[in-house]
Amino acid sequence: MSSSFRFVLPATLAIAAQFQGSNAWGDLGHQTIGYIAQNFVNSTTESYCQGILGITNSSYLASVATWADTYKYTSAGEYSKPYHFIDAQDKPPQTCNVDYSRDCGDSGCSISAIKNYTNQLLDSSTSKKESLDALMFIVHFVGDIHQPLHDENLDVGGNTIDVTYNGESTNLHHIWDTNMPEEDAGGYSLSDAKAYASMLTERIKSGQYASNSSSWLDGMDITDPESSSMIWASDANTYVCSTVLEPGLSYIENNDLSGNYYATSQPVFEELIARAGYRLAAWLDLIAANAPSSS
Ligand SMILES: *[C@@H]1O[C@H](CO)[C@@H](O)[C@H](O)[C@H]1NC(C)=O
Ligand SMILES: *[C@@H]1O[C@H](CO)[C@@H](O)[C@H](O)[C@H]1NC(C)=O
Ligand SMILES: *[C@@H]1O[C@H](CO)[C@@H](O)[C@H](O)[C@H]1NC(C)=O
Ligand SMILES: *[C@@H]1O[C@H](CO)[C@@H](O)[C@H](O)[C@H]1NC(C)=O
Ligand SMILES: [Zn+2]
Repeated sequence: MSSSFRFVLPATLAIAAQFQGSNAWGDLGHQTIGYIAQNFVNSTTESYCQGILGITNSSYLASVATWADTYKYTSAGEYSKPYHFIDAQDKPPQTCNVDYSRDCGDSGCSISAIKNYTNQLLDSSTSKKESLDALMFIVHFVGDIHQPLHDENLDVGGNTIDVTYNGESTNLHHIWDTNMPEEDAGGYSLSDAKAYASMLTERIKSGQYASNSSSWLDGMDITDPESSSMIWASDANTYVCSTVLEPGLSYIENNDLSGNYYATSQPVFEELIARAGYRLAAWLDLIAANAPSSS
């Protein structure tokens, strides 16, 4: 073994570890979205999902919401890596937009994945094992779509933008996935996710989101999963311009983002997590209502 090999390997592993932890809302974000969806799905959908998952406890969606982030690092699941994002080739912070034919890519994206796995669940020839994976993928990808940097090509969705947060070196993608939501929720356990979801659920039912939450479902059409999920991706992508990159790269790279940047971002990621959970519930209701009775 050459000395240069021994020198290079740790650096490669460090980069791999950094990317591994930073490719989705962290566990807390996904579990919160799972719990919010559980709070809104109707009784038919609850039985339908519990039947496919083989889980009937109080975290049946929350506890499977992070599976896709583990699966993509296995050799069997490597094909699913591109399904966690769509790389909008826009020009933030001046111009934000998502264009399916420009941005989806030959190996697929979050939008093509929602379409594929939704259609699998609606198809009576899909096996039990395929239905299980399809449902767990949908629970995860509807979450990912609502993290603005999962709808952005620039700097690998912000993964290569180095930032400081609470004195720690990390990257912009990671603080949106993990640091900022965990700070807001006050932790990262399943019970923290449940409490955070309860807070956001109350806002949807009777608090500050109540007057607008029905409009979050505009354009949702089970016969057209591509246009439905493009609405969600375009919605989240607008915040890349208005919030995520709004202060400019020089500010973002040279200030600790746990101060003013966090304060400005907090209402945005809170509402996006709420929208993700509410839309996931409505999408699962449509799937369950249209699924073949055999599944
Ligand atoms: C529910 O069951 C799943 C699967 O066995 C498990 O991972 C999860 O921790 C359970 N949730 C609770 C709240 O016990
Ligand atoms: C649909 O999902 C199956 C199962 O994961 C996968 O093998 C196939 O490549 C997917 N097709 C598309 C177009 O994404
Ligand atoms: C509701 O949505 C409208 C249109 O998007 C927006 O102008 C308004 O500020 C929203 N209201 C609340 C309470 O968020
Ligand atoms: C659940 O939601 C679906 C889709 O909106 C609807 O068709 C179905 O009637 C609902 N079921 C119940 C039990 O409310
Ligand atoms: Zn993901």
